[in-house]
Amino acid sequence: MSAFNEEQVLSVRHWTDRLFSFTTTRDTAFRFQNGHFTMLGLKVDGKPLLRAYSVASANHEEHLEFFSIKVPDGPLTSRLQHLQPGDKLLIGRKPTGTLLIDYLNPGKNLWLLATGTGLAPFLSVIRDPATYERFEKVILVHGCREVAELAYQDLISKELPQDEFLGEFVSKQLLYYPTVTREPFRNQGRITDLLEQGKIEADLGLPKLDVANDRVMICGSPGMLKDLKTMLETRGFVEGSTQTPGHFVIERAFVEQ
Ligand code: A2P
Repeated sequence: MSAFNEEQVLSVRHWTDRLFSFTTTRDTAFRFQNGHFTMLGLKVDGKPLLRAYSVASANHEEHLEFFSIKVPDGPLTSRLQHLQPGDKLLIGRKPTGTLLIDYLNPGKNLWLLATGTGLAPFLSVIRDPATYERFEKVILVHGCREVAELAYQDLISKELPQDEFLGEFVSKQLLYYPTVTREPFRNQGRITDLLEQGKIEADLGLPKLDVANDRVMICGSPGMLKDLKTMLETRGFVEGSTQTPGHFVIERAFVEQ
């Protein structure tokens, strides 16, 4: 049996000249946990060209959704950015990854810290009722260079609170904190700096991030992951893995080409 399913593109949305997202059909046998990634790509010259992509949709949904950057000369994304509904994609049958609530010790609050397309796995985690059953508050922080890059704002702050199944959880428990570094916005600054200053907590009326109460998932650029890991470890947080749960888990926002 092939390692990939062939799926069909259903819709494509371009957020900026650097960011786009798309939905695809989903093989009925394709199972994943919310927060997982899988391989995704195209056949180029008869050979599969694939990269790791976090699934942005939730595992109770019928379709799959992905959020990607566009790199003009990147081998895969230079092609993917021209996707049209009806096009075929290869999707790996073996999703995996560490950004699962099961890999965190019990805690009061769940912090989801993302930069750029690192938001993708958290779009899945915040659409999972189990997330709200496990944690009292879920705080989604998304850092980008520009306001236009704060993709999915309407989904997070308008559609989900009205959602038939998730609306009650989301409106009571989900806090959304978008922040921008290179132009004016209501929240400004890097996630690292804002947490060092206790600014996000102060703005949201929460106590300072603390290992006794808080659990953290991080997804973004390598520099952001490194800086946040150091900050959390200095505060006594221990990293979890698929083998041993911990106070925080990390995944790179994969696609850089
Ligand atoms: P900055 O504009 O100060 O570089 P990118 O588009 O390069 O992936 O960046 C996405 C966001 O992540 C930007 O707001 C960027 O801020 C921020 N960022 C980059 N490096 C770090 C880091 N080491 N820690 C926290 N945020 C970072």
